[in-house]
Amino acid sequence: MFVRSHALADEVLTTHDVFSSDEIRYSASEVPHRDNPVLHSMSAMDPPRHHELRRMVSRAFTPRTVDALTPAIEACADRLIDRLTPASDFVTGFAYPLPISTLAALLGVSDARQADFVRWTETITSFFGQPEARPAFLTAVAELREYLHTVPASEGIVAGLRESGLTADEIVSLAGLLLINGHETTKTLLVNMVLCLAENPAALAAVRADPDLVSSTIEEVLRVRPSVGGTDRFTTRADALGGESFAAGQRVIVSIAAANRDPAVFVDPNTFDVRRSPNPHLSFGHGIHFCLGAHLARRQAVVALRALLARLPGAWAIEDVVTRDSPVGTDVLALRLVWSAA
Ligand code: HEM
Repeated sequence: MFVRSHALADEVLTTHDVFSSDEIRYSASEVPHRDNPVLHSMSAMDPPRHHELRRMVSRAFTPRTVDALTPAIEACADRLIDRLTPASDFVTGFAYPLPISTLAALLGVSDARQADFVRWTETITSFFGQPEARPAFLTAVAELREYLHTVPASEGIVAGLRESGLTADEIVSLAGLLLINGHETTKTLLVNMVLCLAENPAALAAVRADPDLVSSTIEEVLRVRPSVGGTDRFTTRADALGGESFAAGQRVIVSIAAANRDPAVFVDPNTFDVRRSPNPHLSFGHGIHFCLGAHLARRQAVVALRALLARLPGAWAIEDVVTRDSPVGTDVLALRLVWSAA
């Protein structure tokens, strides 16, 4: 079953007793990629276990945590822009490393282990259950687990997670989930931000003229080009949705991309409007699984956009875009962001 309207997408995401996230328990078909750690993490759980885990994690991962990380995000954005030229690849030069460095700071990874952290992140996030990739994946998880044991209490959220009662196994599985949910999505948001502004010179000029528009610009990027185009749920019983009956064990695909352009909710849904308000897009989900990292992702995008606007003057153009289809959409692998003198 495919859900495209905003109202029904909202209903599916907020009615977790009928539309479960627990694929292994409720899917009527064989679950592929059972090895994928996301299938065993908070995002694939239902209450009461989901509530319990989310409460513990939320205690360590607060708005104060995001505020504390902000100077490091700002310093990293500036450092990356120092090295950016119109000939550089914006993905490897900016959009990819910024969220890795943020996640490293969130987990308290020291500078000396940054290269290892990048390798663990790449290995863990690119694993979709392929048998040939399994040994490297297990090694990366084991190294991350060993490292997280040694993180000092003064760094990142690991000590807070221990205090909240999470076991070592739960902490490593959560760290894996944060890498999987938090890296590629934020990279994609940063790429989409420059794509949208290069395609819409009037919007770029408006946000340059009025920095108060930075946040609403990012919300509009999230709406028109959601990093996660959709999510799924599994029906726990036979029932009906929007007049259509369904059986137990069915997959329900919620198209976030379609809901975000529902004309019943968004005026001129195909127009990129940096002043759109309200903007109830579903790009971070809704209900009990609402993105735990939304605040951190938004903060990174705000810091990045402010720094890019300040340091890359004039009009922006995009050249040499390289894309690849992935199991969850189309990845932008490379692009050049070219700017001109003001
Ligand atoms: C959940 C999107 C960044 C951690 C979600 C969901 C969406 C989403 C749509 C809900 C999925 C569902 O209900 O099936 C995004 C986007 C991001 C982003 C678009 C960036 C632009 C992050 C970051 C982190 C993070 C930076 C952490 C560092 C999580 C976690 C969940 C989640 C832990 C599961 C929450 C739960 O099950 O209770 N995200 N995310 N996300 N996200 Fe994000």
